[in-house]
Amino acid sequence: MYRFFGGKGGVGKTTCAAAAALRLAEAGAGRRVLAVSTDPAHSLGDALRAELGAEPLRIPTRRGELLAVELDAPDALARWLAEHRADLETLAERGTWLDRDDVRRLLDLSLPGVDELIGLLELVRLARAESCDEVVVDTAPTGHTLRLLAMPEELVRLAGALDRLQADHRIVAETFGAWHPDRSDDLLAEIESQAREIGELLRDSTRATFHWVLLPEALAVAETRDGVGALEQAGFNVAELIVNRVTPPPEAPCALCDARRQAEGEVLDVLRDSFPGRTIRLLPEEEREPRGRTALRRMEPSPPAGGIFPVGEGLAPSREGGKVRLSPSYSSARTGGGKPLPYF
Ligand SMILES: Nc1ncnc2c1ncn2[C@@H]1O[C@H](COP(=O)(O)OP(=O)(O)O)[C@@H](O)[C@H]1O
Ligand SMILES: [Mg+2]
Repeated sequence: MYRFFGGKGGVGKTTCAAAAALRLAEAGAGRRVLAVSTDPAHSLGDALRAELGAEPLRIPTRRGELLAVELDAPDALARWLAEHRADLETLAERGTWLDRDDVRRLLDLSLPGVDELIGLLELVRLARAESCDEVVVDTAPTGHTLRLLAMPEELVRLAGALDRLQADHRIVAETFGAWHPDRSDDLLAEIESQAREIGELLRDSTRATFHWVLLPEALAVAETRDGVGALEQAGFNVAELIVNRVTPPPEAPCALCDARRQAEGEVLDVLRDSFPGRTIRLLPEEEREPRGRTALRRMEPSPPAGGIFPVGEGLAPSREGGKVRLSPSYSSARTGGGKPLPYF
């Protein structure tokens, strides 16, 4: 299963992805999980407290295996182009409207988004090479992610465009003798089939899901509506929304905390109304940045109450045995006026 963690910058995608990957790995002895960051501004290594690079690194776990990698997409693109440049140039040169210099400029430009695409190809390749059954992807902020996921279609289009150029060559070759598929044709077929395969994988809800992370802020609701809408329109399955950094009930009277919790409760109300029937889970604000395996193990989003929050019910974050839990009750928390808060 490929699990993508997406959302705006700074909301906790990396933290949630790292925590989910660790939890999946430790869920059973035979588990093999790959955690991949495709965000050019990598921070997966910070969250896991490990020096990550382009080669998978084994992270110590209690059970199961966790491999983590920070993809270097421009580097992967450069390698891919170096490997295929001659064939790509041959392909394009066979067209009637590009000469070798045009093609070189085209390739050097490294078309926007192509590095993300290579990132996608690279992460699927890695997951297969490492035979990982679970792949957790820490993605770049929203716009980037949408482009990344739209990439297989771009590739199919690119392959199609090159193939049309190739068709002219085929006609000429056939006119003056027999046409035989060569290496450039193989490359086209390979690009197209890989792109199609990944496009299908990403749209198959049994193989890929999306976890949308947001903060409990008013502005986040509209952003989430746009972001999730765009993903779903593109055919991706958004499994759940994770609301991160929700203010937990204060241990001592705290007017500021109460005010925050009131405002956050209102945001959660709007969010629930905007996404009826959607799984929404909450994670409390931690006192310290959750880094390292011990801190990440505590980062378990509240189990959804029956998949959604029933109207009038909420979740109360509490600490049991050092683990933060958001249990389905809000009676423990009241505002100054004794009015129960909607969610905690
Ligand atoms: N629940 C939380 N409580 C406290 N700090 C958090 C929490 N979640 C994330 N953080 C911190 O917030 C910052 C941004 O989180 P990060 O996971 O890097 O976000 P993103 O990947 O979306 O940019 C990091 O410093 C992280 O440690
Ligand atoms: Mg991040």
